[in-house]
Amino acid sequence: MPLDIVVGTQWGDEGKGRVVDLLSAGVDFVARFNGGDNAGHTVTVGDKTFKLHLVPSGIIHPHTIGAIGNGVVVNPAILLQEMEMLRAAGVTVSPARLVISHAAHLITPGHIALDKALEGQRGQGKIGTTLRGIGPAYTEKVARSGLRAGGMLQPERFGQAMRQHIERVNHTLRHLYQAEPLDSERIAQEFTEYAHLLKGYIGDVSLLLTHAMNRGQRVLAEGAQGTLLDLDHGTYPFVTSSNPTTPGALLGLGLGVNWVERVIGVTKAFQTRVGEGPFPSELNGDEAARLRGTGDKPWDEFGVTTGRPRRVGWLDSVLLRYAARVNGLTELVVTKLDVLSGLAALKICVAYRADGQELRELPFGPAELGQFEPIYLELPGWSQDVMDVRRWEDLPEQARAYVLQVEDLCAVPVRMVSVGPERDQVIEIG
Ligand code: IMP
Repeated sequence: MPLDIVVGTQWGDEGKGRVVDLLSAGVDFVARFNGGDNAGHTVTVGDKTFKLHLVPSGIIHPHTIGAIGNGVVVNPAILLQEMEMLRAAGVTVSPARLVISHAAHLITPGHIALDKALEGQRGQGKIGTTLRGIGPAYTEKVARSGLRAGGMLQPERFGQAMRQHIERVNHTLRHLYQAEPLDSERIAQEFTEYAHLLKGYIGDVSLLLTHAMNRGQRVLAEGAQGTLLDLDHGTYPFVTSSNPTTPGALLGLGLGVNWVERVIGVTKAFQTRVGEGPFPSELNGDEAARLRGTGDKPWDEFGVTTGRPRRVGWLDSVLLRYAARVNGLTELVVTKLDVLSGLAALKICVAYRADGQELRELPFGPAELGQFEPIYLELPGWSQDVMDVRRWEDLPEQARAYVLQVEDLCAVPVRMVSVGPERDQVIEIG
């Protein structure tokens, strides 16, 4: 079957960008299916590090075509900036290489202002959103009052619709949040210009990909965020407003289930989270600082989009098993194994304790994780640096045991392990 799907199994930031970059070598299309510029995918090629928020990371390969599906919310200003950044780095970005679904919804300054106002009002109960307007854009989509990319094909009418949208937002900003209104005229003009610049890129992603697969071409669906941030299956309400899980790929690209071959779940060798919400295996103090890194390397644990230090902890296999279930994973990729080198002992959360009971499965999904105390399995660490290792059999015995334990705990085969940020710092298994 010609469609493979890459999903995150944690709270995002699993290293999907580099996995997509690797797999892109063997596909014709790379298609983003959810989220917006809240995502940040880092790909390192030689001395260049690309930080992408919207454009599918596969586009860095000269032979692939990037698609942005209907499930994505697009901020045109950010998209245009990213296209320019890629061009400056020598990547060809043209309508022949990038297609945006006519049914993708747009993020406007109105949505961003509402995101800020809403988070401000939540106070202590804030979600810790990326403040990119994601929630309000999806809210308008569901309320059937959003602006879609296809509207940009008629720039003048689109400008008018934008003006009306900002005036509606201003009403809410003024009356509900006592916040400053936005300049609807200026924003409408700005978006009319974006429409002129982007209209050549608008297409029917579902039709394009289906025709391509009928011709025998391959498609890679690239998810943003991760399973535990899924609107339905994540740690609600501390989630994003889209579906980063496998069904979100089909819905967000307009594709049938019959095309799917592999569902590749990406997990870090440990656990991280940005923003608020429960995290049973979270670490603090020196242990946390050791896993997080200092922030001087692009792959240290600091948010690509917001720069916030990520919360870090031991790998949680209860949540990983849950992610395997709700995504139907066929295989796993474990990233950042190198970060664990040098730790004397490693832990994996294998169950929770609550009310004197031991739980191996989540009774009602991950929303109420706060009350659970992790039960750990302890494994010996290894001292050897593994960043130059390229063959499974050359990994230290304890590192292999750690990976096999992960595989065993979630009953999904691990097909690849990454040991550094470069394209070639991977070990393929079997
Ligand atoms: P939003 O998607 O900006 O509404 O943020 C909702 C939650 O998802 C917050 O906890 C964010 O930190 C988190 N989030 C959104 N996008 C990402 C991502 O790409 N990686 C990690 N966390 C994310």
